Amino acid sequence: MWKIHNKLLIYLLWIMEIRLVSSFTSAMLCGRIPGLTPAQRQFCSEMPDVLIALGEGQQLGARECQQQFRGHRWNCSEVWHKNVHIIPIASREAAYTYAIASAGAAYAVTAACARGNISKCGCDLRHKAAPPEPWKWGGCSADVDFGIRHTSKFMDARELERDSRSLMNLHNNRVGRRIVKKLLRTDCKCHGVSGSCVMKTCWKSLPPFSLVGDKLMQKYHKAKTVQAVRGKRGLRLALSRKKHAIAAGQKPAWAWPKRMELVYLEASPNYCERSIQTGTLGTAGRSCNRTGHGPQSCDLLCCGRGHNTQHIHRKSQCRCQFHWCCDVECEVCDESYEQFTCK
Ligand SMILES: *[C@@H]1O[C@H](CO)[C@@H](O)[C@H](O)[C@H]1NC(C)=O
Ligand SMILES: *[C@@H]1O[C@H](CO)[C@@H](O)[C@H](O)[C@H]1NC(C)=O
Ligand SMILES: *[C@@H]1O[C@H](CO)[C@@H](O)[C@H](O)[C@H]1NC(C)=O
Repeated sequence: MWKIHNKLLIYLLWIMEIRLVSSFTSAMLCGRIPGLTPAQRQFCSEMPDVLIALGEGQQLGARECQQQFRGHRWNCSEVWHKNVHIIPIASREAAYTYAIASAGAAYAVTAACARGNISKCGCDLRHKAAPPEPWKWGGCSADVDFGIRHTSKFMDARELERDSRSLMNLHNNRVGRRIVKKLLRTDCKCHGVSGSCVMKTCWKSLPPFSLVGDKLMQKYHKAKTVQAVRGKRGLRLALSRKKHAIAAGQKPAWAWPKRMELVYLEASPNYCERSIQTGTLGTAGRSCNRTGHGPQSCDLLCCGRGHNTQHIHRKSQCRCQFHWCCDVECEVCDESYEQFTCK
C-alpha cells in the first residue's frame, strides 16, 4: 500500500514541477522531474510539449473531480493536494480519480494539438475522406487518437508492478481516455446563400470537459467490484462473485468487467473520521446544509455526530439601483444568517 502511495506522491510532485518549469528547456525539465521511470524520462525528452499538456490535463482533471464531489464526504481535495494523503485504498473513489486524471490528460493533449501547441500533431486529417454529399469534412478535427496514444504511453508507464492494484489503475485509466473519444462531437458550419446550408463543413470537436466529468460520475455510481484471478496469461481482473453463488457450488466461470466500466478492489471507508491509514481528513468542521437532503446535508455529511450552528451578522450592500448614466447606488443592509458545521 505504501508503495502505491509513494508512487502517486512522486507523480503529483512532478506535476507541480511541470508548472514551475514549463518555460525551461526540455533537458532541464526532464532532468528535474523526480521519480520518472526510464520510459517516462525518454518520453519526456522526446516530447516535452506533450508533457506540458499532460500537466495541464492534471489540473483539468483535478478541478473537475473537485467540482463533481463538492460537498460530499470525500470531496477529492485531498488527492490533489501536495502534502496530504493520497488514496491508499483501492476504492471506488480511487477509480474515479484515475479515470478523470487520464481523461483530463487525453483531453488536454488533444486540445493542445488542435491549438498547434504540439509539434508532432495537429488536426485529424483522416476526416478529410470524402463523406456523402452534401457535406464534407473540413476545419480542424480533434486528433483524439494522438492524445490517447501519447497519454497512455506516459501515464500507464507508472504501473509497473502488474499486481491487482496496478491492473485496476490501468483499467480505469483506459476508461477515462475512451470516454473522451466517445464524447467527441460533430460540429458543422453551413455555407450558402443566407445560411441556406446548401453546403456544410463538419469537424470533430472536444465537448466541454464537464460532460466528461458527468459521464464518469455516472460510471462511478455503477462501478463494479473486481478481484484479480490468475489465468493463462497472468493476473487478470474478474468481477467479484457473490458469496452465495460460490457456496451453492457453482462452477467457477469468471465474468470480466466491461470496457467502459470503472472497477475497484476494496470497499470505501465511510470518510467520517480522520484517519492516516485510509488517508482521509474526516468531515469535522465541514459546512453542511441543514435543510437539504443531498450528500451535503448535515445528516449525511456529519455522519450522525450532529452540527454546530453559528449565527452570523454582517453588513452588506443591497437594493442597488442603476442611475442613468453611470451610477450604482446601494443601501447598506444588515444581513444575518446561520451557518452549520459538522461536529
Ligand atoms: C499554447 O498556445 C497558446 C495559444 O496559441 C499560447 O498562448 C500558449 O503560450 C501555448 N502554450 C505552450 C505551452 O506552448
Ligand atoms: C473538502 O474536504 C476537506 C476535508 O474534509 C476540507 O478540509 C475542505 O474544505 C473541503 N473542500 C471543499 C471545497 O469543501
Ligand atoms: C440547502 O439545500 C436546499 C435544498 O436543497 C437549497 O435550496 C439551499 O440553497 C441549500 N443551502 C445552501 C447554503 O447550500
